[in-house]
Amino acid sequence: MSQYIIQTAKYEHLALAEEICHHMEESAKARGTGIAKRSPDYIKKKMVEGKAVVATDKAGNFVGFCYIESWGHGKFVANSGLIVHPDHRKSGIAKDIKKEIFKLTRKTYPDAKIFGITTSFAVMKINSALGYEPVPFSELTDDDDFWKGCSSCINYDVLTRTNRKMCLCTGMLYDPIEAEKNKQKTSWHFVSNSKVYDRWLQLRTYILSKFRKKQEKKEEEPVLVPMPEIKKPVEKEQMLVYSSLVTGVLSLLRSLF
Ligand SMILES: CC(C)(COP(=O)(O)OP(=O)(O)OC[C@H]1O[C@@H](n2cnc3c(N)ncnc32)[C@H](O)[C@@H]1OP(=O)(O)O)[C@@H](O)C(=O)NCCC(=O)NCCS
Repeated sequence: MSQYIIQTAKYEHLALAEEICHHMEESAKARGTGIAKRSPDYIKKKMVEGKAVVATDKAGNFVGFCYIESWGHGKFVANSGLIVHPDHRKSGIAKDIKKEIFKLTRKTYPDAKIFGITTSFAVMKINSALGYEPVPFSELTDDDDFWKGCSSCINYDVLTRTNRKMCLCTGMLYDPIEAEKNKQKTSWHFVSNSKVYDRWLQLRTYILSKFRKKQEKKEEEPVLVPMPEIKKPVEKEQMLVYSSLVTGVLSLLRSLF
C-alpha cells in the first residue's frame, strides 16, 4: 500500500500553502532557472477552487503539489507549479501528482488544450507519458497574462528578445482532439481489424479446440498394457479334431490330383 495520499486539495490543506511556496522558491534558486513566483494566497485560492492536487504522507505532512490555471478564456489550461519535497523525490510522486491533476483537468476543462513549459527533463518525461507533444511556443496560448508569469524567471529577457517565439523552456501540448485521432489511428490495425483476419481467427480457434479436445481424450483413455501371453494347455479332444481335419483335407487333395 502507498505511503502517500494524493488528492484534490481540500480546506485542511490550506495550512500547507506557506511551505509549498517556500519549496517552490528554494527549488527555483537551486536550479538557477525560475519558476514563476506564487504567493501563499494564490496557492490557497487554487485549493479553495478545487483546482489543485496535493500529496501528503499519512500524517498530513507536505509531499508534493500542482495546480490548474486556465488561459485564453478556457481554451488553454496549464498544470503549473509542480513541486515535490526534496526528501520524497525520485519515488514516482511527481508522476502520480501529474496523473491526478491531468484527470482533474480533463474533467473540469474537457475541451481545453493542456500545455506546459519546462526545462525539467523529469517533467518532459512525465508529460510525454500523458500524451503531451513538444511544440513551438506559437502553438501555446497567446494570453499575455500567462507570459507575464514568466517575468520572475531569470531568463525572461530571452523570451522578450525572441518575441515569445522561444526560450530555455520547452513547450509541450496535449490537444484532446489530436489525442483522440492518434488513439483511433493506433487502435486501427488493418490486419487485426479486417474481416478476413476475423474469420481466420475463428477458424484457427476452432481447429485448435478440436485438436485440444482430441489430445485430452487421448490422455483420458486408459493405457493398455499388453498382458503376457498365457499359453493354454491344448486339450486332447481338440488335438484329435484338428488331426482328423488335417487328415480329411489331405485325403481330399490326394483324390483330386
Ligand atoms: C521535477 C520534480 C517535480 C520531479 O519529482 P519526482 O517525484 O522526483 O519525479 P518522479 O519520481 O515522479 O519521476 C518522474 C520521472 O522523471 C525522472 N526524474 C526524476 N527526477 C529527475 C532528474 N532530476 N533528472 C532526470 N530525470 C528525473 C524519473 O526517473 C522518472 O522517470 P521514468 O518515468 O523514466 O521512471 C522534482 O524534482 C521537483 O520538485 N523539482 C523542483 C521543482 C521543479 O523543477 N518543478 C518542475 C517545474 S516545470
